[in-house]
Amino acid sequence: MREFKVRNCKLIELPKIGDRERGYLSFMESLRNIPFEIKRVYYIYGIEDPSAVRGEHAHKENLEQIFFCINGSVTFLLDDGENKDKYELKDPNIGIYIGPGVWHTLVNFSKDAIILVVASDYYTEELYIRDYNKFLEHVKGRVKR
Ligand code: TYD
Repeated sequence: MREFKVRNCKLIELPKIGDRERGYLSFMESLRNIPFEIKRVYYIYGIEDPSAVRGEHAHKENLEQIFFCINGSVTFLLDDGENKDKYELKDPNIGIYIGPGVWHTLVNFSKDAIILVVASDYYTEELYIRDYNKFLEHVKGRVKR
């Protein structure tokens, strides 16, 4: 499995049970193959503009998320303020785990892309950093401590 240079990012592989004739089944279980308790699930879909860009933010602390592209494909740009990585998510049983302090941007959506996300906490705007320069300051502050 591919490893990332970017901190707090890793691929998660779900079981893929089945065959080409009858199709496949993959599953997620809190605190088993998902390394946190799932408190929230959301999904992104209906992206008609191929130049659409989503994400472009980081989370301050304690928010862990895993992104799955359960249909179609999307490219993730990952950035921890020092290293950058790129990954095309297209296998429904492969997810990208993204922890705190990672600037992530989603680009290159196929029209049929459906992105399913499981998160370790409820939504709150307070946990977001949406300004890239503030993100860099936040990351530098943490490195100094
Ligand atoms: P945002 O996280 O900015 O989406 P993206 O990174 O894909 O562009 O969220 C878009 C809007 O949806 C924003 O107004 C916040 C709201 N939102 C919720 O209300 N609950 C959620 O769980 C999420 C992820 C977003």
